[in-house]
Amino acid sequence: MRVPLWLDTVSAPNYPTLTHPLDVDVCIVGAGITGVTLAYLLKDTDLKVVLIDSDHVLHGTTAYTTAKVTAQHDIVYDEIIHSYGEYQAKCYANAQTDALYFIEQTIQQLKIDCEFERKFAAIYTQDPTYVPVLEKEFKAYQTLGLKGNLVDELDLPFAIEKALILEDQAQFHPLKYTLGLLNSIAEASNIEVYENTPATDIKKQDSAYVIETASHVEIRAQKVIQTSHFPFYDDLALLFAKIEPSRSYLIACEGAQNLPEGMYLSYEQPTHSVRTYQDLLLIGGEDHRTGNQEDTVAKYEALKGFAHQNFHVDDVIYEWSTQDYETVDKLPFVGRMQENDNIFVATGFRKWGMTNSTAAALLLRDLILDKENPYEPLFSPQRKNLKAQIKNLIFYNAQVAFELLKGKLQHVEGVTSLNPGEATVISTDEGKYGVYKDENEELFVVDITCPHLGCELNFNRAECTWDCPCHASRFSYKGEIISGPAHYSLKSTKNKIDPNLF
Ligand SMILES: Cc1cc2nc3c(=O)[nH]c(=O)nc-3n(C[C@H](O)[C@H](O)[C@H](O)COP(=O)(O)OP(=O)(O)OC[C@H]3O[C@@H](n4cnc5c(N)ncnc54)[C@H](O)[C@@H]3O)c2cc1C
Ligand code: FES
Repeated sequence: MRVPLWLDTVSAPNYPTLTHPLDVDVCIVGAGITGVTLAYLLKDTDLKVVLIDSDHVLHGTTAYTTAKVTAQHDIVYDEIIHSYGEYQAKCYANAQTDALYFIEQTIQQLKIDCEFERKFAAIYTQDPTYVPVLEKEFKAYQTLGLKGNLVDELDLPFAIEKALILEDQAQFHPLKYTLGLLNSIAEASNIEVYENTPATDIKKQDSAYVIETASHVEIRAQKVIQTSHFPFYDDLALLFAKIEPSRSYLIACEGAQNLPEGMYLSYEQPTHSVRTYQDLLLIGGEDHRTGNQEDTVAKYEALKGFAHQNFHVDDVIYEWSTQDYETVDKLPFVGRMQENDNIFVATGFRKWGMTNSTAAALLLRDLILDKENPYEPLFSPQRKNLKAQIKNLIFYNAQVAFELLKGKLQHVEGVTSLNPGEATVISTDEGKYGVYKDENEELFVVDITCPHLGCELNFNRAECTWDCPCHASRFSYKGEIISGPAHYSLKSTKNKIDPNLF
């Protein structure tokens, strides 16, 4: 079943669509784990808060995650020490462990049954040339006081060269947890929640902001918080140029014997991430930059091959995919977008958004309430550290420029045959169009120039979507927007296509 296990095992409440103008202190745009946690943290203040989502609440990346709740974020601490020094690396580690502790405490306090379990996290390699990388990260753990351990064996059904273990981490059901937070918000009189209410723009008005929505209903707010995964409003901060999208795939398998005890991640590519949920084995990985590969079906096949070869399981009951963003220096952007402004953002969690989102919400709560927070400088979207950023900044934008140019120059043949379930691109004097034929042989023709900054979209065969290789906006085959930074759907332009092409 191509839905995430998490969405299939809960029923989320429905919220109304916003149909009347609002005047609030705080408008939170985006109801994933970050926005919901922030709303929860503001429920006992005297601020009037509105939380809006363009889709259903908690149907974004949070519903598609692996949900390891850990401070082990791949290999990162050695790099942060080198880029920002020991103090900031310690801040990053503390922000994650504080977040893990906050999640555990909140679960106990609200009695949320979300299968939170303490587990060890392990990053392993099967390649001897990568052992020094793990050793350096272990040294960083020791410097920062993280409870790490280097081992030669794991309870996985294959040999490894080395693994770095971080004890006492956790895993949970991400939607049961966040729905628990939402339920407690329902009792708060200062918070309103609306769904199917996409924010499309922010305008400054006197000392406040007006958030425009797709249905032209406006929200006036003193502070705006973009927890929309990718900021829908850039405010000249040019964050989209400093963030790279990466897509990954997950499968949940039934019938594995000897389920492993911990949570695992391979260091080498293609990455393989392993955890359990009840008696299911979850395997993830096969990452790639969003929009740059059409044969996404092969990614699921590769994960199934890994499950079969190593765990002897073939019974895949769920499969799903999603994307997350990585910043140029691997640290999230959380805080004020511009100095002295009251538009805030939280993005760039690098597939470690369970603790990072919670750390972000705790930091944003303090910024909204004008309280000091030790992690503010480290996560500030305005931070400058050319040493850490410049290489990736050039690389990301060279990729975007390449995709933009490639899309414009690519020569596309006319099409005479298309099987159901297939898509192709055709060129006309008017531009390039994506054509998809559904199972009923109906054709859907859309203008595949991305409404964000004009890159040409690529077809994603596994999800039947048009994906942007530049900043990862995604659209259904009918052209409806699935996720930004683009605000608008694709133009459907059947009339401009020569019917003789088909
Ligand atoms: C394959 C994969 C595996 C992962 N595994 C892990 C893991 O094991 N551990 C871990 O810590 N992290 C993991 N992550 C990362 C983590 O899942 C994400 O970082 C996190 O869920 C992001 O939460 P969010 O609240 O920022 O975004 P989302 O959950 O995407 O929420 C954003 C919300 O904003 C809404 N929205 C967007 N635009 C607008 C708009 N214009 N107006 C109104 N609403 C809008 C969306 O509809 C959405 O509901 C993984 C990520 C991926 C891709
Ligand atoms: S050009 Fe930026 S998302 Fe498509």
